[in-house]
Amino acid sequence: MTDLQLTPADYRPAPPPDATLRIGILGCGNIARNAHLRAYRDFGYRVTAACDLNPDSLRAALDGFGIPWGTVDLAEFLARNDYDILDLAVHGHQRLAVVEQIVAARPPGLRGILSQKPLAMRYADAERMVALCEQAGIVFMVNQQARWAPSHRAVKLLLERGVLGHVYCITHFHRQSQDVAGSWFTALENANIVDHGVHYLDLIRHFAGATPLRVKAVATWVPGQHAVSPMCHCIACEFEPSLEIMAVSYFNNIVRTPELYGYDWYLDGTAGSLKMGYNEVVVTQADSPLEKVVYRIQGSWFPEAFGGSMGELMRAVQAGREPLTNGRDNLK
Ligand SMILES: NC(=O)c1ccc[n+]([C@@H]2O[C@H](COP(=O)([O-])OP(=O)(O)OC[C@H]3O[C@@H](n4cnc5c(N)ncnc54)[C@H](O)[C@@H]3O)[C@@H](O)[C@H]2O)c1
Repeated sequence: MTDLQLTPADYRPAPPPDATLRIGILGCGNIARNAHLRAYRDFGYRVTAACDLNPDSLRAALDGFGIPWGTVDLAEFLARNDYDILDLAVHGHQRLAVVEQIVAARPPGLRGILSQKPLAMRYADAERMVALCEQAGIVFMVNQQARWAPSHRAVKLLLERGVLGHVYCITHFHRQSQDVAGSWFTALENANIVDHGVHYLDLIRHFAGATPLRVKAVATWVPGQHAVSPMCHCIACEFEPSLEIMAVSYFNNIVRTPELYGYDWYLDGTAGSLKMGYNEVVVTQADSPLEKVVYRIQGSWFPEAFGGSMGELMRAVQAGREPLTNGRDNLK
């Protein structure tokens, strides 16, 4: 019988034992203020400097989170020596130019960069950023922070304990609607995959412990949709046959009736099956098929997981190792 005991302390992300590395935040927009900085405050991290081209965003970050210094001038920010980690929260299409500037200026204290996702809008740009940071000796991590969300961490822990035996099938269903006329989401090309679809593919790799050999995808347009790209897709992941596993991500982001929105994962293994949502994980095991173990998950993906991903980068920098979700891994 495998160990089914799970407490919040097991799966909720926690700061590293030494959380003294200093953070400089570049880009103080929506996600920086609503998730990064809230999590850093809750985790006790030190944010020493901030930069945003937009003075209102900068001011909101400085005032809202007690950050001691800030500027709207990127060159001035990059000349500082009061941060060890640069938290890069600009958009994917802006990222390469900014990373080139960071590497050229090489802030004197800089040891690691945590880049928001999607790393880039073109693969060649992503490769270039990874290579630039490797050449400069800067640890580079992509903020695929979904891996640190409490329910996702609970699942990973149960998998590591072998609760499901050999996992042969991972199925992800995501149903909601972001097809709001005039919104940034509907104007963004391929928004479904570059915005949050990228998290679900990263989670498939995380849960499978392997990268698909190839993927096959279908997508459809919907009559009357506002978005410039399809909002409904299904991606089938094909792995090396000897791994004996398959995965599917079904993402319908134009469901007309909120009643049937949902976020569900099913993982099936030789020893049992598991269902997971944002707040609950249910495990059933083949040797006691009439029983189920229900975990009511404490904590939340936003903002808590952002404390977990930053903590992972701190641990990696301190240990001189590559972080999980490092840039080279993210290229996969
Ligand atoms: N990991 C997640 O779950 C998650 C969630 C939401 C957004 N994001 C990602 O975060 C990134 C930012 O999204 P957002 O919603 O915060 O956008 P936003 O537009 O609200 O913020 C971006 C900020 O970057 C600033 N900026 C741009 N170029 C700059 C430069 N050269 N120097 C200084 N400041 C600069 C802008 O002025 C703006 O304030 C995107 O890549 C997005 O996909 C990730």
